[in-house]
Amino acid sequence: MDEEGPDCGKADFVLLDQVTMEDFMENLKLRFEKGRIYTYIGEVLVSVNPYQELPLYGPEAIAKYQGRELYERPPHLYAVANAAYRAMKRRSRDTCIVISGESGAGKTEASKHIMQYIAAVTNPSQRAEVERVKDVLLKSTCVLEAFGNARTNRNNNSSRFGKYMDINFDFKGDPVGGHIHSYLLEKSRVLKQHVGERNFHAFYQVLRGCEDSQLEDLHLQRNPALYSFTRQGAGLNPLDSDERSHHQAVMEAMRVIGFSPEEVDSVRRILAAILHLGNIEFVEMEESGLEQGHVAVAEVVLVDHVAELTATPRESVMRCLLSRTVASGGRELIEKGHTAAEASYARDACAKAVYQRLFEWVVNRINCVMEPRGRDPRRDGKDTVIGVLDIYGFEVFPVNSFEQFCINYCNEKLQQLFIQLILKQEQEEYEREGIAWQSVDYFNNATIVDLVERPHRGVLAVLDEACSAAGTITDRIFLQSLDTHHRHHAHYTSRQLCPTDKTMEFGRDFRIKHYAGDVTYSVEGFIDKNRDHLFQDFKRLLYNSSDPTLRAMWPDGQQDITEVTKRPLTAGTLFKNSMVALVENLASKEPFYVRCIKPNEDKVAAKLDEGHCRHQVEYLGLLENVRVRRAGFASRQPYPRFLLRYKMTCEYTWPNHLLGSDRAAASALLEQHGLQGDVAFGHTKLFIRSPQTLVTLEQSRARLIPIIVLLLQKTWDLDKTMHAGAPNSPTYSPQSVVSPCDQCGFLPTPAPHLSSVQANHFV
Ligand SMILES: Nc1ncnc2c1ncn2[C@@H]1O[C@H](COP(=O)(O)OP(=O)(O)OP(=O)(O)O)[C@@H](O)[C@H]1O
Ligand SMILES: [Mg+2]
Repeated sequence: MDEEGPDCGKADFVLLDQVTMEDFMENLKLRFEKGRIYTYIGEVLVSVNPYQELPLYGPEAIAKYQGRELYERPPHLYAVANAAYRAMKRRSRDTCIVISGESGAGKTEASKHIMQYIAAVTNPSQRAEVERVKDVLLKSTCVLEAFGNARTNRNNNSSRFGKYMDINFDFKGDPVGGHIHSYLLEKSRVLKQHVGERNFHAFYQVLRGCEDSQLEDLHLQRNPALYSFTRQGAGLNPLDSDERSHHQAVMEAMRVIGFSPEEVDSVRRILAAILHLGNIEFVEMEESGLEQGHVAVAEVVLVDHVAELTATPRESVMRCLLSRTVASGGRELIEKGHTAAEASYARDACAKAVYQRLFEWVVNRINCVMEPRGRDPRRDGKDTVIGVLDIYGFEVFPVNSFEQFCINYCNEKLQQLFIQLILKQEQEEYEREGIAWQSVDYFNNATIVDLVERPHRGVLAVLDEACSAAGTITDRIFLQSLDTHHRHHAHYTSRQLCPTDKTMEFGRDFRIKHYAGDVTYSVEGFIDKNRDHLFQDFKRLLYNSSDPTLRAMWPDGQQDITEVTKRPLTAGTLFKNSMVALVENLASKEPFYVRCIKPNEDKVAAKLDEGHCRHQVEYLGLLENVRVRRAGFASRQPYPRFLLRYKMTCEYTWPNHLLGSDRAAASALLEQHGLQGDVAFGHTKLFIRSPQTLVTLEQSRARLIPIIVLLLQKTWDLDKTMHAGAPNSPTYSPQSVVSPCDQCGFLPTPAPHLSSVQANHFV
C-alpha cells in the first residue's frame, strides 16, 4: 500500500482547517475518490464502505502495520487492530473494538479484517492449540453468517443478530480461546420478509447446496419457491453456484470447528422441518359430529415429515399442532382444541422458536470449542481480552416493529457509550498529564435511552405492564398508555399527541426522535413479540425427541406442565438486560472505535451520495468528535516521538540535544519556531492546540529532509572513497559527520542503501 500524498486530503479530520460540515465532507469525498476509505479522528477510525474489492488487505498490508504506531501508516483497520492488540499486550489491559454504523455500512466486513489481522500477527511459534483457536475464530464467522444473516433491502448480507466476540490472549499475546455473545436474533424473519428480502441464508443454502440424495432424505425439492417461508425471497437468490459454494464453505467451516457429522445432519433436518412446518395449513372442520371450531391439518404428509425430521412421534406432533394442554386448577389437565387461527399462531411461534434455539445452539457449540482450555491463572498468568463488537446498525423501514425498536435502542446505548468514553478518555488524559481542560457541548442522547429503558415509565416498562395485565390488553391500549406517560417528552410523539401529522396513523403509530433520525413504529404485534409465548406442549415434544442434538436445544421441555412457574422475563426486558450488561462490559475495557459510513443506498461502488453521508456524519456525532478532540488539542505526542520527528528543524535538537530532558528540548524547539504559545506541556506528552502548528512543523521538516538525505549521501560517498583509499583508516569515524539517532541507533555506519533507508526512517 502506498503512502499518502497531500492530494489524498487529510488523513485525520482533526487536521482540517475548520471544523465545518462542508470541510468534513470535502475531505471525506476527496479521500473516497482516491480510494482512501479510512480516515482518523484522533484514534477513532472513520471507514466508508467502498462496495468494491480494494487492494488494501492481505499479508503484505498486514506486515506494514504490524508493530507500528497508529499514525505511522495511512489510516487503516489494521492500525486500529494493531493499536488494540498492542495496548492489550503492553499494558495487560482488556481492550475492545466497537464497530458501529448503519445497516450496510461495512461493520461485519470490518470485523472480519480485524480478526484476520489478529490471526496473522499472533502465534509465531505455531503452537497447535493456538492454531486451532485461530481456525475456529476465523471459521465461526462463516457459520454465524449462514444462520444469522439475510438479504435485506439495505444489505445483501445483513446481520440479523448482534455479535460481541471476546478473544482471550495468553501472556505472550497469542489467542488461547474466545467467546461469542449473540443478541436478539430477528426471528420473525423466519416467517415473513419484506418485499425484496430473503429469509436467513441457511435455508437457501440447504435447498440449493445439498446433494439430490440428501434433499430426498429431507423430503425437500430444490426450489425455494415451493416453501412458504422461502417463497418471497426465492427469486432473489444469488447465483445457484454461489449458493452451492457458500453451502460447501459452511459445511467445511462446521467440520473445522468440530461439529460432528451427526450434528451437521441434525442441523439440516431441523432446517428442513421448519420449511415443512411453514407449509402446514389448517382447515376448520364442519362435518357433523365434530364440535364446532375443530380444525385439521390440510396436508397430513407434512406432519409425517416434521415428525420424522424431528425424531418425534407423529401423533404427538399432530396433537401439538391442533391443541394445547392447560392445567385447570390442581393437577387436572385438559386438552383444549385450537381454532384455525390459534393453530396457525402456534405453528408460527414454534417455527420461530425452533430456529432461534438452533441459532443459539450453534453459537454455544462454537463457544464450547473456543473455551480457553486448561488455563490456570496461577500458572499461566491472567488472560487478557480483546472484544470485537459488530452489532446490527440503526435501521428504518417503511414499517418498523418491535425488532427495529430493539435494534435502534441498542444503537442509542452504544452512541451514549461512545459519547461518554470519548469525553471521559480525553478528560482522564488531561488530568493524568496535568493539563487544564474546558468541556465542549455535545448532544447527549441519554434522554432517549431513558425514554426507552427507564423503570416503571420507559417504553419497555410500559410494554411489560401491558403484557402482564390480566384480560385482553391490546397493542392499542399499550399505545394509549405510552401517550399518557410521554406526552411531554421531547423525543416522543404519536398521532394522538400530534393530530395534524398525517404521516402517523391513529391508534397504531408512535414516533421516537432517535439520535440518528425519526422512526415511526407500528405497535401492532408489540405485545405478542414481547411476550414471546410458546406453548409448553411444543417444548416437551422437542425435549422428548430421540435426536440428541435437537433435544439438547430444549432443556426447558423437561418441566412438568403442572409446575407453577414464574412468569418468564419478556423479550424486551431480556434484551434490555443484555444491553446493560454489554455496555458495562465495554466500559470496563479500553475502547477503540470504528465508525462505518454507507456511501449510497444502491450498494454500488464509486458513488458517494453527499446527502446520505452528511446525515450519517451528523448523527454519528463525528463533527462533535473532531471538536472535542480539538477543543482540547489537535495532537498529542510523547516527547521522544515528537523530537524524533522534528529534531532536524532546530539547532538545539539536531542531531541530538544536550538539554536536561526531552521536555526541555521540545520547548527549545518550539521557541525557536515561535510556537510555544500554542502548546501545553504535559508530564510525558506535548499537547499541540491547533493543526496549523503541526503544519508549520511538518513544512519545516519537509524542507530539511532532502538536505539531510543529500548530506547522508555525501557521507556515504566519502566513506566509500576513504575505504577504497585506506580500508582500515583509524582516523575515520562516520559519527564525526552524522551522529546516530538516539531512538534507534540508526546510522553508526552509513549503509549502501543509505538514502532510501534514511528517507524511510524520517519520512
Ligand atoms: N472493506 C470493504 N471492501 C469491499 N466491500 C465491502 C467492504 N465493506 C463492506 N463491503 C461490501 O458491503 C457489504 C455490506 O457490508 P457489511 O455486511 O459489513 O455491512 P454491515 O454494516 O455489517 O450491515 P448490517 O448492519 O446490515 O449487518 C458487504 O457484503 C460487501 O459487499
Ligand atoms: Mg453486519
